[in-house]
Amino acid sequence: MGKELSRRDFLTYSLAAGAGAVLFGMPGCRSGGDQPLSGGKDKDVSVAMARDEKENAMPFTLPPLPYDKAALAPHLSAETLEYHYGKHHQAYVTNLNKLIADKPEAKKSLEEIIMTAAPGGLFNNAAQDWNHTFYWSCMKPNGGGEPAGDLRAAIERDFGSFAKFKEQLTAAATTLFGSGWAWLALDDGKLKIVQTKDADLPMKHNQAALLTMDVWEHAYYIDCRNARPKYIEAFLDHLADWDFAAANFAKAK
Ligand code: FE2
Repeated sequence: MGKELSRRDFLTYSLAAGAGAVLFGMPGCRSGGDQPLSGGKDKDVSVAMARDEKENAMPFTLPPLPYDKAALAPHLSAETLEYHYGKHHQAYVTNLNKLIADKPEAKKSLEEIIMTAAPGGLFNNAAQDWNHTFYWSCMKPNGGGEPAGDLRAAIERDFGSFAKFKEQLTAAATTLFGSGWAWLALDDGKLKIVQTKDADLPMKHNQAALLTMDVWEHAYYIDCRNARPKYIEAFLDHLADWDFAAANFAKAK
């Protein structure tokens, strides 16, 4: 999975950062599928293999939010989270499980599916599960502000200043036509602002995602109606979790 964060990394980060009581699971982890095989005695192998197949074929699950659905209000309402997380993200997970049922992909990790799937429904639903899991961690109550430390220095190195970076990210998110994502990504050691269409994501282009903004209409229409710039401003000024982005940067660089 290259430099992208796995669900285990999310969990590790959340624990290290002392995040709230509700922690993310691991992106792409199937319930129960990460347990080691038991035994090791010859007579246990067939039993262990059967168990392994069963556990690896467990469906993907919707990871818990890292905060309460109402925690991002008034910038993003509980109603937005109920629909965006509870309906849209859940639908991607449900569709993904239907598409991999009884197929070789049922034993692959989410990242493996994303990297090997051809354009189409399987890629779209797997990538959207990953994108949304990542996106929820890119926000926190009382977020926003500006990054510090190594990430701040890298932003100033590659964009000139945080203000110029913010301008460029805002422009990328605002001008993305149709549905997609605006990302801060690390590409061969250099920070870049990346626009992706639909479900596309930096991982597919050998880039490491550091922060993302969902600019599909379903991300903001309940709270901001058609005013995408209002949502972008709220994300950057009040919601962005720069500690999460900095942790991603530290792992990726
Ligand atoms: Fe979304």
